[in-house]
Amino acid sequence: MKFLIKTNSLTHCYRSGTKDEVKALDNVSMEIHQGEILAITGQNGSGKSTLARHFNALLLPSKGEVSVKGLSTSNKQNIPLIRKIIGMVFQNPDNQLVTSLVEEDIAFGPENLGLPQPEIIERVNWALHTMGLQELRRENPHSLSEGQKQKVAIAGVLAMKPECIILDEPTAHLDPRGRREVLESILQLNREENITIVLLTHFMNEVIHCDRMLVMDNGSIKIAGSPCDLFQNGENLKKSGLELPVASKIAEGLRQEGFNIKPNIINMEDLVESICQLK
Ligand SMILES: Nc1ncnc2c1ncn2[C@@H]1O[C@H](COP(=O)(O)OP(=O)(O)OP(=O)(O)O)[C@@H](O)[C@H]1O
Ligand SMILES: [Mg+2]
Repeated sequence: MKFLIKTNSLTHCYRSGTKDEVKALDNVSMEIHQGEILAITGQNGSGKSTLARHFNALLLPSKGEVSVKGLSTSNKQNIPLIRKIIGMVFQNPDNQLVTSLVEEDIAFGPENLGLPQPEIIERVNWALHTMGLQELRRENPHSLSEGQKQKVAIAGVLAMKPECIILDEPTAHLDPRGRREVLESILQLNREENITIVLLTHFMNEVIHCDRMLVMDNGSIKIAGSPCDLFQNGENLKKSGLELPVASKIAEGLRQEGFNIKPNIINMEDLVESICQLK
C-alpha cells in the first residue's frame, strides 16, 4: 500500500510562546494508506481534531512535518493541491451548508474551482446519486433531517472529487438512524469509489467497520492496529478510557459465565453465529 498522508514527529502547540501554551500534539509520526478506512479515536481533548486539521493544512506543524502524496503542508504553494486531494467534513452540517437548495449547495465547491458548467452538472449529479440524494435535490437543506444534512455536506465535499475524506465526528449530532445511514454512505464511498476515509469518532460501533484504528491519548498515538486485534485485548483500550463495542462486551460477559464463545468477536452477526453454535 502507498502512503497518502504521512506525519513525521508532528508537534502542535496552540497559543505558542505564551503562558497559556497548550501542546495538543506531541511528536506524532503516522501514515495513512491509500484506499484504507482509518478510525481515529480517543477521549475528549486527546488531539484527534488537531491531528486531522493538519491533513489538509487547516493547521500547520509547530514542529515536524506533514506531507500529502509527498507534498509538504509547510510549503504554501502546495496547499491548493493538498486541499483538492483531501476533503474535510465536520461535526455540524449546518456550518457547511451555504445555499437554500441541495443541488446548489453541492455545486458550490466545483463552482469555486472554476470548472466548466457541464462538468459541474455532471459532478453534482454523480455526488447526488452516490449519496442517494437524487430525490432531495430541489429541497432546502435546512429543512432536512440532521442525517440528510450531513449527507448533503458529504456530497458537497465529494463533488470536489477528493482522493481522501476526513470526517471529524460526522455522526455526533445524529439520531441512531441518521448515524447508521451516514456510516453506511461513508463505507460505500470507500468500497465503491475507492476513496480513502479517515473517521474521527467516539463510537466503537463505527470503529469496528474500519480497517485500522489509532487511539489518541494526551496528544500522542497510544495504540494502533486492527479493530479486531485491539478489541480482543480490551484492557489497553480501557486504560485509554475507551469502551469495547457492544458485541465484544457481551461476548466477554458470556465467556466469564463459562460459555464457549469464539475469540475476535466485534460485531453482532459474529456474536449471534457463535451463540447459535453453542451446544
Ligand atoms: N483553538 C484552540 N486553542 C487552544 N487550545 C485548543 C484549541 N483547540 C483545541 N485546543 C486544546 O488542544 C487539545 C486537543 O484538542 P482537540 O480538539 O484536538 O481534541 P479532540 O480529541 O478532537 O477532542 P474532542 O473529542 O472533544 O473533539 C485540548 O487540550 C484542547 O483544549
Ligand atoms: Mg475533536
